[in-house]
Amino acid sequence: MSSSDYLKAPRKPCADVNHLPGDNGALPLLGDTIPFLTNYLPMSMEKYRKYGKIFRSHALLQKTVVMVGPEANEILLKDQQKLFSSKKAWDPFLDKLFPNGLMLMDFGDHKLNRRILQAAFKKDVLANYVGTMNPMIAQRLAALPHNREVAFKDEIKALLLDVAAQVFMGVEIGDEAAKINRAFVHAMEASLAIVKLPIPGTTWKKGLDGRKVLEAFIEQHIHRKRAQQSDDFFSQFCHARDEEGNFLSDEAVRDHIIFLLFAAHDTTTSTLCSAVYLLAKNPEWQDKLLEEFDALAHSAPSFDDLGQLPLASYVMQETLRMYPPVPVIPRRTVRETEIFGYRIPANTSIGISPLMTHYLEEWWTEPQRFDPMRFSPERAEHKKHFYQWLPFGGGSHKCIGLNFAEIQVKIVLLHLLKRYRIEARPAYTMPYNPVPISFPTDGLPLRFIPR
Ligand code: HEM
Repeated sequence: MSSSDYLKAPRKPCADVNHLPGDNGALPLLGDTIPFLTNYLPMSMEKYRKYGKIFRSHALLQKTVVMVGPEANEILLKDQQKLFSSKKAWDPFLDKLFPNGLMLMDFGDHKLNRRILQAAFKKDVLANYVGTMNPMIAQRLAALPHNREVAFKDEIKALLLDVAAQVFMGVEIGDEAAKINRAFVHAMEASLAIVKLPIPGTTWKKGLDGRKVLEAFIEQHIHRKRAQQSDDFFSQFCHARDEEGNFLSDEAVRDHIIFLLFAAHDTTTSTLCSAVYLLAKNPEWQDKLLEEFDALAHSAPSFDDLGQLPLASYVMQETLRMYPPVPVIPRRTVRETEIFGYRIPANTSIGISPLMTHYLEEWWTEPQRFDPMRFSPERAEHKKHFYQWLPFGGGSHKCIGLNFAEIQVKIVLLHLLKRYRIEARPAYTMPYNPVPISFPTDGLPLRFIPR
C-alpha cells in the first residue's frame, strides 16, 4: 500500500439508487405496480427507450434497478464476483410455501444441492420419464373434447398435473393423485396471494394447508422410496448422490420435490399454451411438424427420437422467445457494486428481463413475427450473443429442468398433432399477460378437429 492510499478519504457507502436515470412511477407508494402487472412489455420498453440499458423503477412496493440487453443479462447471471443473491430476491415471494428450493439458495449451499439433484436429470433417467409420460399423454389427449371449442389452458393444466403426480411423486392416477393435485394447486395459487394472513378460507391459508398435505405425503412414503428405486423424481432424489457421495436428508428431499413441482408446472403449461396458439395461427407449421413426427421410427417417441426433431425444436425455441414463461429474473445485491458506470448499493433489488431482451430490434429481425427458422443453423439469429435468448435463465441458477421441459413439450405436440388439426376462430388473437408467468387471459379457446 503506498502512503498516498492512507491519505485518501474512505469512500462513503452508496445509500440509494436515486442517481440512476429513471422515475418513481405513476402513483405515490404503488409506483408502477399497476402497469407492471397489466402492461409490462410496452411500459418497460418505453422506459428502456427513454433511459437506456440501466434505469431505476418502482413497482411491487420496492425500488428496483432494471438492466436491459444481453450484456446486462451476462453481468447478472454469470455473476463472476458472487454479487447477486437469488435467495434474497425470491424469498419474499416463495419462502413460506416453497422453502429451501434451489432458487432460494445461494453460492456454496446452492452448488452442493444442485450437484446432487443433477443426478435426477441425467440422460438415462430422462429416458425413463419419457417411457412413463408417453402413454399417459397419448391417452389423455385422445379424450380431449372435439368438435366444439375448448379452453385449452384448463385442459393442458389438468393433464400436466396428472402427469406430474406420476412423474414427480410416483402416484398412480386415482384418489391420492386428486388429493395431491388439489394440494399443489392451492400452494401454487397462494404464491401469488397479496394478503398473507392465515385466515381460514383465504388463498394463503389454503396454500399453507396444501403444502402440509404435500409434506405429509412425502414424509409418509420416504422410507419406501429410499428402499426401492422407481422412475419418478421423488425416488431419484432419494437415491441421488454427487461425485463425492453426498446425498439429501429427508427434509431436503421433501423441500426439493415440492419446489420442483412448482418450478415445472406453470412454466410448461404456459409454454404449451403459447406453442399451441402459435400453431393454430400458423397452420403450415402444423403440417411441417406432423411430417417430421410421421417420419420417426416409433409412434410413441423414444428419448433419442425426441432429439431428432429439428423443426419441433425451432418451434419450441421461437415460442419461448415470443412468450418466455418467466419474463423477469430478479436478484438482490449482496455488496455495493458498479454497473455501466453507476454505483449500486448493497441490498438493492435488481432485475433483468428475458421478455424485453427477446423483443430488442438490435438483436432480432422482426421480433414481433413468428419465424421458427431464425433458430436454424443457416440463420442462427440467437447466436449473436450467448445471453440473447434466455427463457431458461443462465449461469449457476440456469433451469435444471430444461431438457425435461423440452421432452414433455415435444411429446404433447406430437400426440396432439398426430390426432388433431388445431383451429382458432378467424382473426383470433390470444390476449395474454406476461407477468408473473405468461398466460392467456381468456383460457385459449380452440377447436381440435380429429384427423
Ligand atoms: C419451459 C419450461 C421452463 C421454463 C421457461 C423455465 C424457466 C426457468 C428459469 C428462467 C429459471 C431461472 C430462475 C432464476 O435464475 O432466478 C429456472 C430455474 C429452475 N427451474 Fe425451470 N423452467 C422450465 C421448466 C422447468 C421444469 C420442467 C423443471 C423441473 C422438472 C424446472 C425446474 C427448475 C428449478 C429446480 C430451477 C432452479 C434452478 C437453480 O436455482 O439452480 N423448470 N427455470
